[in-house]
Amino acid sequence: MKSKSGKRIGIFGFGCVGQGLHDVLQDNPHLNVARICVRDREKLRTLPSHHFTYDPQELLQDESIDLFAELISDPEEALLIVRQALSAGKTIVSANKKMISENLSELVALQQEFGGTLLYEAAVCGSIPILRTLEAYYGNEPLQEVSGILNGSSNYILTKLDAEGISYDEALAQAQALGFAEADPTLDVGGYDALHKISLIAAHAFGAVIKPEQVVRAGIQHISRRDVALAQALGGRIRLVATAKLNQNNRLALQVLPTLVFPDSELYYVEAEFNGVQLQARYAGDQFLKGRGAGSHPTGSAVWADVSAALAGYKYTYPKFRYNDEEQLKPVALEEEDELKVYVRTTMPEFLPELPWRELTVFGTERRETQLVGTISRKDFLLYLPALKQTIAFIAQIPAHVSAEQVVNASYLKLEEVA
Ligand code: HSE
Repeated sequence: MKSKSGKRIGIFGFGCVGQGLHDVLQDNPHLNVARICVRDREKLRTLPSHHFTYDPQELLQDESIDLFAELISDPEEALLIVRQALSAGKTIVSANKKMISENLSELVALQQEFGGTLLYEAAVCGSIPILRTLEAYYGNEPLQEVSGILNGSSNYILTKLDAEGISYDEALAQAQALGFAEADPTLDVGGYDALHKISLIAAHAFGAVIKPEQVVRAGIQHISRRDVALAQALGGRIRLVATAKLNQNNRLALQVLPTLVFPDSELYYVEAEFNGVQLQARYAGDQFLKGRGAGSHPTGSAVWADVSAALAGYKYTYPKFRYNDEEQLKPVALEEEDELKVYVRTTMPEFLPELPWRELTVFGTERRETQLVGTISRKDFLLYLPALKQTIAFIAQIPAHVSAEQVVNASYLKLEEVA
């Protein structure tokens, strides 16, 4: 199968992204797919069986292969593949945000030690070239904030609830059928996927290697029509927003939270599976990137771009990483003291934990539901969030300028429509 002029790629995985890469590569005569490694022998495939192998070593030890594309969903298996390739000084691109974000230090160290290359643009916001932008364009300029809608599936669901009023389950089933959702959609709707992506963004934008437990995270899985109607009555929409933001004290605030956004925000207009990333740079000012964040071809396109860049010798330089004299990565100080204003609706009010709220307004008209608007320090919220989640709560951040009184009034305004 070796062509005289072309480069040879070994692909791991032939799901939504693997198939997408294969499709877009049909546009490139200089890249040849050597073999595709898959796990399931029984699964019906769109290509004849001689294109596939079931043994990862058949690809990993094939010296005629110039580059690997790791596109499987299992993070443990993906790590084994990437680790072996990088330990042999090879070039590999990956779309596995969970695996990369949870093992970033090791993967960077392996590249430094053995000279291999790992690129993963497709892991963050599908077709939006955010990592390349952060690396190549904002490598020197200090950034104040990178935030946005980083998960296509949850944005698809939120858009459908808001615009079409279909049920949550139906919207999720659509997102799955369209190939947007992860194999385990809890990763999408629970905010984990956005957490993995904002972690990778924080590494490239701020030089921070983050542990998941350091990030305030809540998902959209408990949203109800009542919450959607409340946002509408306030003139806004709920979006799952991931944020990495340097506060005045130079500490990095990190969160993934359903957030009430208004028409003055670019995020208000990001619909369906699209993602939107807003970037605030010290000198360039504000920028906004929007594009398809999920789906077979948009993600395949991002992998293709990585494949081409890697073959041309491109590597990430992690320009914001700072090292001490012992060549250890300096940690970035994280924000704990700033204040969050949140809306909470729980269907298990009797189990609501006693949170150290700085301000609190409790309301609600349903017997088995309690709604509240409260302000709390980030540190306390992080501490009590697991207990709050136990009460099947929908949690959303609301901007500081929206008063609790406005929220209460809006909840009565929309009451009849959702009753
Ligand atoms: N499940 C992911 C999403 C796929 O919905 O955004 C793209 O990373």
